[in-house]
Amino acid sequence: MKSTTNNLFISFLVICIFISCNKKKQQEIDKSNTNQTSTYTIDKTLKESEYHIDLLNLKTKNKLGSDTLVTVTNDPVYHKTKRYQAVNALTLITSEIDLSKVDTKDTKIVFECIDGYKPEMPLALFLASKPYLAYKDLDTKGTDWEPISKNGNKMDAAPFYLVYTDAPADDDHYKWPYNLIKIHLEPIDKSKADLYPKEISKVTGYNLFQNQCITCHAINGIGGEMGPELNYPKSVTEYWIENELVDYIVNPASFRNKVKMPTLGITKQQSQEIVEYLKYMAKNKKQN
Ligand code: HEC
Repeated sequence: MKSTTNNLFISFLVICIFISCNKKKQQEIDKSNTNQTSTYTIDKTLKESEYHIDLLNLKTKNKLGSDTLVTVTNDPVYHKTKRYQAVNALTLITSEIDLSKVDTKDTKIVFECIDGYKPEMPLALFLASKPYLAYKDLDTKGTDWEPISKNGNKMDAAPFYLVYTDAPADDDHYKWPYNLIKIHLEPIDKSKADLYPKEISKVTGYNLFQNQCITCHAINGIGGEMGPELNYPKSVTEYWIENELVDYIVNPASFRNKVKMPTLGITKQQSQEIVEYLKYMAKNKKQN
């Protein structure tokens, strides 16, 4: 009887040790997992390398996924129905990025183009649509792409053009970047947190800047690179005469021949609001 009790006790001990070892192991696994993803899942900030896709690099490695033919009716760049050889962008993104670690509703997808243009859209909207990465235009003979006319210049869409088979061409929540080379994810509020003004009177200008300018211009290093940085090290408000700056933003072509900045259709009043915000940011310089 005594020996049975002893045996039972020993078995119990062995089980306890076993459980505790495994628990430790599990904790170690959990720890290494959180180390990997902690920057996003815990702090909601992304660890850069895990959420960046270099399309040209994938192409070189033959990892873009399988070809498909897509037809886009009412293509917003070519203004007609077009057919492309493409790869499914959702399949590509889900195979490159572990979306189970990503809080999709708080994340945006940013597209990086050759010239530094960086349009973005909510990741949730992107995932709910049918996006394709087109890499060859099937309506041309001899060349890979039908030329696009822009500001009197002819260009093509290579290497990638993002198209959708289901998005309305006139819905500007969907972005259709061409000359696309990279894609990455970012927390939706990243630029908000860093560029949001502490003075309530500057919020209108901030909102206009976020909606109309940030795809091409950075402030403190945050934003697109097609146009120049506007705040750091010298703010445009420090070397432009204020009323000239307001007029320039309304109509850049009235200042510069063959200007690359488009006329955006904003009013003089709105431009003034943007300049007020830029003056505020001039007092809040930071190198990012
Ligand atoms: C499609 C891209 C694009 C958008 C959108 C855009 N810009 Fe520009 N912007 C440019 C480029 C490119 C230049 C360089 C000058 C040129 O066009 O020759 C420029 C130049 C400027 C300059 C002159 C900088 C200097 O030092 O001379 C200012 C100021 C400016 N932009 C402000 C704005 C503001 C404010 C908005 C939003 C209302 C805006 N831009 C939207 C592309 C853009």
